[in-house]
Amino acid sequence: MEVLNEEFIRKHLKTKFMGRNVIHLDTVDSTNDYAKIHGENFAEGTLVTCGEQTKGRGRQGRRWESETGLCMSVLLRPQIEMQHISKITQVCAAAVSAALSELGVEARIKWPNDIFINGKKVCGILTEMKIAEDGSPLVVAGMGINVTNESFTDVIKDTASSVLLETGMNVDKGIIAAKILNNFEILYNELQKGNFEASLKICRERSYIIGKEINLIEGGKITAATAIGISPDGELVVRYQDGRIGSVISGEVSVRIR
Ligand code: BTN
Repeated sequence: MEVLNEEFIRKHLKTKFMGRNVIHLDTVDSTNDYAKIHGENFAEGTLVTCGEQTKGRGRQGRRWESETGLCMSVLLRPQIEMQHISKITQVCAAAVSAALSELGVEARIKWPNDIFINGKKVCGILTEMKIAEDGSPLVVAGMGINVTNESFTDVIKDTASSVLLETGMNVDKGIIAAKILNNFEILYNELQKGNFEASLKICRERSYIIGKEINLIEGGKITAATAIGISPDGELVVRYQDGRIGSVISGEVSVRIR
């Protein structure tokens, strides 16, 4: 298994704070859990990575299976109003997509937070928040990126893939991590200045679902629609089959391409 090379991260890092403090654990249950538990003591931008994650978590209570993937969580102390915090997920997705694009990889964003190459998922993002003792929000932006994985379990093998399998490129995990952090810091700083558009532009231009026929799944109910855009607040804008236009808030529904 290729090990994450911290030196490579540092060598390629252009940031002021993201990834400047790295906590690398050989084995951890979940880098997100670790960052949430210990985050109050970490500087903003602290990166938690690992060699092996034994209880990786995905969205909606799912497990994240990626023993050989790149697992990383970034601790953030956003100075923005609470209503804007969920936007960090899309900022992060934009950063991952921009990082892969710098490597010449055509990575698409499946709103709000999955990254696809050639129609297969290569990265998932799980952003979580907790309130620190002083009442301020602590955000953990967790990313699981399949960089050099060569196989997947039966459960996900039809839908998941890796950068290596889709492009043939054997990219160093440390370089990908550094490029993500470089882009993330720029876009996160913009968000804090009130400029979410910088991330939205990337999410729209590299969208995997705008223009596609989708199913919206909410509590067992399936509604067919067409994805037609992303609103200034990051909601998915859809046209239902009866012609009505609506918007969908991330976290409330799952989106499947028909
Ligand atoms: C999803 O697609 O459902 C989100 C997956 C997020 C996985 C990453 S791996 C690093 C971090 N630690 C976790 O336990 N989860 C996230």
